Amino acid sequence: MKKQYLLTPGPTPIPPEVALKEALPILHHRTSEFAAVYKDVAEGLKYVFQTKNEVYMVAGSGTAAMEMAVVNALSPQDEIIVASCGNFGDRWAKIAQSYGVKVISASVAWGNAVKPAEIEKALKENPNVKAVYTTFTETSTGVVNDIKAIGEIVVKTNAVLVVDAVSGLGGQEFRTDDWKVDIAVSGSQKGLMLAPGLSFITLSDKAWKAVENSKIPKFYFDIKKYKKSYATSETPFTPPVTLIVALQESIKLIKERGLENLWNDYKLLAKAARAGMKALGLELFGETPCEVVTSAKVPEEIGGKIVKTLREKYGVSIAGGQGDLKGKIIRFAHMGYIGKADLLVGFACLEMVLTELGVKIEKGKGVAAAEEALLNG
Ligand SMILES: Cc1ncc(COP(=O)(O)O)c(C=O)c1O
Repeated sequence: MKKQYLLTPGPTPIPPEVALKEALPILHHRTSEFAAVYKDVAEGLKYVFQTKNEVYMVAGSGTAAMEMAVVNALSPQDEIIVASCGNFGDRWAKIAQSYGVKVISASVAWGNAVKPAEIEKALKENPNVKAVYTTFTETSTGVVNDIKAIGEIVVKTNAVLVVDAVSGLGGQEFRTDDWKVDIAVSGSQKGLMLAPGLSFITLSDKAWKAVENSKIPKFYFDIKKYKKSYATSETPFTPPVTLIVALQESIKLIKERGLENLWNDYKLLAKAARAGMKALGLELFGETPCEVVTSAKVPEEIGGKIVKTLREKYGVSIAGGQGDLKGKIIRFAHMGYIGKADLLVGFACLEMVLTELGVKIEKGKGVAAAEEALLNG
């Protein structure tokens, strides 16, 4: 028997209140009982996304909503700008290219933040661009992008702004409407504190105009079907009822704490995590660190070993690097149902593992620095 601590940037741990809802008997999805849950959740999602527009629920992981944001807004041969700074930003380009869309890159090296000025330049040079696709918090590197600044640029053009908020939603200030985001997508297994399997998408009026012109073939992901069903508090196909019932509970928890308080909670955890890493002599990775995951460089040959040993010996799951960053960074999440005590447990075990792997650190220093940050706000 080993107690597990899930400190990965998705999936994240589930609060007991939410887990209990996931265990309830299944409701049939064409009933007034389910419609009442759906209605409440749909309203709650508007709050979480900070939008007045409808938010649709789609069975599938976050990538399902990303694919919807491509197939419903574009036609084959359309030109789009992808501003990527990591693995998930690159995914926008991969999805679009697989539907014959032409991708113009405004991407930066992994670890940097995308440059709003580069997006502006690319939009000026390519006036036919239909959309700009980018990422809010790039989970693969731990970098946050300035979506507000990008929104101010894209709103002046005919293009729509599409943002992947899969890992940032609920964890760091994100305002769909105020920041002029036309399409925002997210998933269940991060800030929303649910099991994986449900994704979300919301569209502005400008985005709906793009939907009207879209010629990419689609069936399951046809957003118009979801809009039509929304009117009767339903989904077009059998939804993951369990997850939607549980989402009602997690939205209740989010509302009780208040989004702005939550954002501040994670900001403090991020501050503590950064202090802990620095105190252990680990250099932080990323130009503009986000508040839902902290990335730090580690001696290259032991990156994988740190993650493996932490999990196998202590039951603590953190993430390593992806792609070219494999083995070179570790990523420590502080989103969803991850709190101060989890962070301290994570740092204590990280110190033991680093010591066991021969990294010269002063045991207790990381924990002490994190404690200090937590105590002093
Ligand atoms: C920023 C970001 N975008 C997209 C995804 C993909 O989501 P999923 O794995 O749920 O399909 C993730 C998941 O890790 C993510 O963190």
